[in-house]
Amino acid sequence: MNNPYLSGNFAPIEEEVSVTQLAVTGQIPAELNGQLLRIGPNPIAADPASHHWFLGNGMVHGVQLREGRADWYRSRFVMDDELVAARGGAPVPGPTNPLQLGNGVANTNIVYHAGQRLALVEGGNLPVVLDADLNTVARTNFGGTLPGGLSAHPHLDPATGEVHSAVYSPFWDYVQHVVVSREGVVTRAENIPLPGQPMVHDCMITPNYFIVLDLPVLMNMEAAVAGEPFPYRWSDDYGARVGLLPRAGRAADITWHEVDPCYVFHPMNGFEDAQGRVVLDVVRHPRMFATDKHGPNEGIATLDRWTIDPRQPRVSEQRLDDQGQEFPRIDERLTGAQHRYGYSVMVEEGFAFGGLIKHDLQEGRKEVYDEGPSRNFMEAVFVPRSSAASEDDGWLMSYVYDSASHVSEVVILAAQDFTAGPIARVQLPQRVPYGFHGNWVEATAQ
Ligand SMILES: [Fe+2]
Repeated sequence: MNNPYLSGNFAPIEEEVSVTQLAVTGQIPAELNGQLLRIGPNPIAADPASHHWFLGNGMVHGVQLREGRADWYRSRFVMDDELVAARGGAPVPGPTNPLQLGNGVANTNIVYHAGQRLALVEGGNLPVVLDADLNTVARTNFGGTLPGGLSAHPHLDPATGEVHSAVYSPFWDYVQHVVVSREGVVTRAENIPLPGQPMVHDCMITPNYFIVLDLPVLMNMEAAVAGEPFPYRWSDDYGARVGLLPRAGRAADITWHEVDPCYVFHPMNGFEDAQGRVVLDVVRHPRMFATDKHGPNEGIATLDRWTIDPRQPRVSEQRLDDQGQEFPRIDERLTGAQHRYGYSVMVEEGFAFGGLIKHDLQEGRKEVYDEGPSRNFMEAVFVPRSSAASEDDGWLMSYVYDSASHVSEVVILAAQDFTAGPIARVQLPQRVPYGFHGNWVEATAQ
C-alpha cells in the first residue's frame, strides 16, 4: 500500500548525519548566533497500511550559525525505547511516565527552556533532554514536579518567563493546565474536566486567561480496541467550544464559549482588546480525521479571527484569509499581546507545502514569498534583530525542501523585506523530511 506520509519528502531518512563547513550563498547576519532546530517523525519501522504522519520515532535536525558562518548540520534520532531496542545501547535515562505512548517517542516540537533543549510530543510522554550536539541525554519530569506528561506546545510568557501548556492523555478525562517556571519547576497543574477526550494540540495565553480548545477530534474507543495506532476521530455530535480559564483560577472558574465545529492545531496568537474581549487568531481546519486515517487532510485550513466577549456564550468568527496555510508564527516577544504581523506556510489540499505568507493584520493585507512548485517551505521561525528591535524587525528562517534536487537548505529572509528573496541560503547535505516544528536557540541562552 502506498502511504503518502511515507513517500516523497514525508519518507524517513535512515542515518544520522554530521557535516561541518556548510556552503552558504549570500551573507548570514553576524547577529544570528545560535542553533536553528527542527523536529519531525522519522519512523524506523512503519507499517504503510496503518502509519499515521503524527506517529513514529522523532528525529531532530539542527544548523548552528556563528559570526556569519554555518558551523554544522546535524541530524539525530531522539532516543526512545524502540530505537534503543533496534540500535542497541543503554535505555533512555531518567524517569518514565507509566502512561507513556509509543515507546516514549518525542517527535513534534523542540524548545529551549530553563537551560535545556526539550524534545516534545503530546499525549502524555515526558520531555526528552538533548545536549548541544543534539544527542539524547535523558527524559525529564522537571525534578518530579510534572504529574503526567507535557504537551508539544508550551508557550513562553515573555512577562514572567513561565511556560504554559495544555496537557492531555488518552487515559485522562480532563485537560491539565501546566505552568513550568523560568527555573524549570512545575508551579501549577490544574485539571479541567471535559465531557469527551479530545486531542488538545495547542493552547494560548493572554494577560488574564489560559485558553482551552475543546474541539471535536476525540479518542475513539472503537478505533483503539481495533488496534488502530492513531485512534482519534472527528465527532459530528460533540460540538466545539473555547474555554477562558483565569490564569490562576480553579477549573470551576472557566467560562465556555461555543464555536462552529472545526479543528485547530495551531493558534497564531491570542490577546485582549481594549473592551476586555479575547481575540484569537487561529488556523482553522473545517474538519479533522473524518475521512483520512493517515494525516491531517480534510480540506484546506484558513486563517480566522475568533473574538470572545467573556460574558457572551458564543464566539464571533471572522475569516482573515481563505488561502490554505498552516504553522502560523509571530514575533514571540508578543505572545499574549496584540501582534500586527504573522507568518505562515502555504499548505494546499493533501498537505502540499509551498511558500511563505506574511500577514499584516493591522492593514488587512498579506505578502507571499514563493520560490515555485518545487520549493517547499516549512514552518518559519522569527528571530528579532535585537531585544530592542520593533516587531517584524528581524529574520525569518525556514528549512526548505527542493523536490527537483531532493535536498534541503536553510533560507534566511529579512522579515521587513520579505519578498526580496533570501539574504542567505545554507546548503544542507541531504533532505530534511517534512516535520512539524522548530525554534531558534540563541547562543547566549545556552
Ligand atoms: Fe503543532
